[in-house]
Amino acid sequence: MNRFSKLGYVLAVAGSAVGLGNAWKFPYVVGNNGGSAFVLLYLGICLVVGIPIFLGELSIGKLSESDSVNAFSKLTDKFKGFWKAVGFTSVLTGYIIACYYVVVIGWVLYYIFMALGGFGDISMVANSASFSEAFDTSKGVFISFLTQNWLMQTLCFFAVLAGCVFIVSRGIIGGIERLNTYMMPSLFILLLVMLAYSISASSGGFSEAARFLLVPNFSKINFNSFLEALGLAFFTMSLGIAVIITYSASLNDNANFLRSTFSVVGINILLAIMMGLIIFTFIFEFNAPPAQGPGLVFMSLPLLFAKMGSVVGTLMGVGFFVALLFAGVTSAISIIEPFTFFLVRNYNISRAKALCILGAGMVIIGLASLLSNVSGVGEHYQIFGMGFLDFLDYVASKILMPLCGIGAAIFVGFVIKRDGLELLFLPHMPKAVFEIWYICIRFIAPACVIAVMINALWPR
Ligand code: PHE
Repeated sequence: MNRFSKLGYVLAVAGSAVGLGNAWKFPYVVGNNGGSAFVLLYLGICLVVGIPIFLGELSIGKLSESDSVNAFSKLTDKFKGFWKAVGFTSVLTGYIIACYYVVVIGWVLYYIFMALGGFGDISMVANSASFSEAFDTSKGVFISFLTQNWLMQTLCFFAVLAGCVFIVSRGIIGGIERLNTYMMPSLFILLLVMLAYSISASSGGFSEAARFLLVPNFSKINFNSFLEALGLAFFTMSLGIAVIITYSASLNDNANFLRSTFSVVGINILLAIMMGLIIFTFIFEFNAPPAQGPGLVFMSLPLLFAKMGSVVGTLMGVGFFVALLFAGVTSAISIIEPFTFFLVRNYNISRAKALCILGAGMVIIGLASLLSNVSGVGEHYQIFGMGFLDFLDYVASKILMPLCGIGAAIFVGFVIKRDGLELLFLPHMPKAVFEIWYICIRFIAPACVIAVMINALWPR
């Protein structure tokens, strides 16, 4: 059987974890919730909830060495059908996310071309108009790309989809591990270069960014920050959607599980902070509002790059969006793999065939979410007042991901025999650590996730 090398596993899982979320979610949430006070909270939650569920999913994958759907039912004799359904839901959740995640990576690809062309209309107004007027132009460019330029969006979507499917079709070693061993170090170097530039060229923006992200302000921490940290930990660690289970089924026996897990979490946080410092240096340097979500990446930043002049701005812009493309692609392939692995294992078909079937579905669902933003089209199939893409995101990340996370935690905590877990983990961790982990996965993690779900579904 094809298996990851030790480093390959860490890079692949880190590749999954480090994604678009690190660029537009982490920096904003951290900044708004009290900087490093929140980072400390986030680290704490990673320790008591994120890492325990991560290790739980790892154990399901490693003990069964099976695809996520059959992994659960292979490890128990009771309620097999129910656990199969849990496994299938997590595979399906990943697949749903993959469909619209690829659409968003398509936008990133378009912005690479835009950066190469010097940001077109945005560069015209960058220095001549007032900041808010220029910002409106930048916003207008993004909105009109989204609502009118369906052709370009579709082309970019297909390009990204084809790339991702091609990589997954090459398998664990020749495709996924290989891509990550190139892309993850390249991503790191790109970010390092950009960080060095932002430190050297900024006149105060960098120190303000560092203060925004790193100086603790405990007065901003409240119950809500706790929930935010939990949701963020879930999303950025790629939990609850069969990724860790699937990758761990191909994990080498001689890997040190605890060390690999901590490496992944460390890389994820380090890259998130680097991205945050880069983004906010530019934001503060130009006194731009630290906007939220896609607005930050697709509206504020292009304007700031355009303001930096044609040479530096182009270099920085291309560098940033290429880094984001790498981060996105390594995450996207990690969510396409679980369903592929399931089809290949369960129905004994080739990877190519499995990917033809999955790819066809992704084209349909992906195009439906892409078109949901296009004016004159998307209005016709709103669900609960949400565009189709937003609806998929809501259902997948707010409902299905946490549900599957709880499923995995309960399965490991109460269904798998403790002896099997001890056999798996004790060679890699002291007994006391095992005991703490076991309490976390049985009680603390499920309780915390339920709290997040309740809050997410009924916001106060
Ligand atoms: N962790 C990725 C990010 O931060 C997102 C992701 C979610 C990737 C789910 C895979 C699965 O963007």
